Amino acid sequence: MPNSIRVFAPATVANVSCGFDVLGFAVNEPGDEVLLKKNDRGKIRIVEIEGDNGQLPRDIEANTCSVVIQHYLKKMELDFGVDIWLKKNMPLGSGLGSSAASAVAAIYAINILADYPKPVDALLPFAMEGEKAACGTGHADNVAPALFGGFVLIRSYNPLDIVRLKSPDNLFTAIVHPHLEVKTKDAREILKKEIRFSDSVTQSGNLGGLVAGLLLKDYDLIGRSLQDHIVEPIRAILIPGYDNVKAAAMDNGALGAGISGSGPSIFALAEGPDRAKKAGDAMKKQFEKIGVDCDLFISPINQEGPRVLD
Ligand code: HSE
Repeated sequence: MPNSIRVFAPATVANVSCGFDVLGFAVNEPGDEVLLKKNDRGKIRIVEIEGDNGQLPRDIEANTCSVVIQHYLKKMELDFGVDIWLKKNMPLGSGLGSSAASAVAAIYAINILADYPKPVDALLPFAMEGEKAACGTGHADNVAPALFGGFVLIRSYNPLDIVRLKSPDNLFTAIVHPHLEVKTKDAREILKKEIRFSDSVTQSGNLGGLVAGLLLKDYDLIGRSLQDHIVEPIRAILIPGYDNVKAAAMDNGALGAGISGSGPSIFALAEGPDRAKKAGDAMKKQFEKIGVDCDLFISPINQEGPRVLD
């Protein structure tokens, strides 16, 4: 049984336009790293958090990683203590599934420190507790793909029913992350509590189309289905230049584009790395035109989920 373990967990794109709270996929980078060491004090301790500009809670009752680990140790009736080091490689409030990456790295790591008593599938509810601590709701569309890799559909929350979806090998994403912060909690609060019946019909058609497009490896169908008539029109106002950035992606080879999670990052999907790069560069240029600095990530769909670093 190891005494220490370091795990990386990837960033994720949640919602994927038409799948609010029920669809997400993982990317190769960025991602967070968690180092855990068993201690003999029998307590959980956050030793260091790097890369968060002091923004994350150090209180073990509030920090995503310690919350997840606490739940796990309690449930498994384990009484060892753990020292935690967290390295954030992506900013908070970015729409890249930052809290999910930390939660997943932590739960994956503690399960190994405990000598794998739980299969990976059974770790999801713990990771969702971390999400709840971070933004008030235990949505799974970031934690599930971060934990399993690939595209994941949350068919149902109660009972939890997760469907892992195959996707075409040559499907790539471009994600632009403007240097702005949108808190998921705030971006959820502005949403309407009720939607029009006709919008629900349109959204169901698109979500079904996207899932079918992924499984059939039908790029055109994937592209036609990447539409969101419910959440995007409300949240787009939080992202300066949104319409132009999205249009730039569409004019430069993207199959479709939308808000990544609760934003402000914007993702595009494309067939192949070259088209993804072209679309990504065009999106970045649009942000820069209005004086907003941003990062660009190009990635295939990450199929691996978390990985042990050492
Ligand atoms: N489905 C969540 C939301 C994802 O859009 O609020 C947050 O990353």
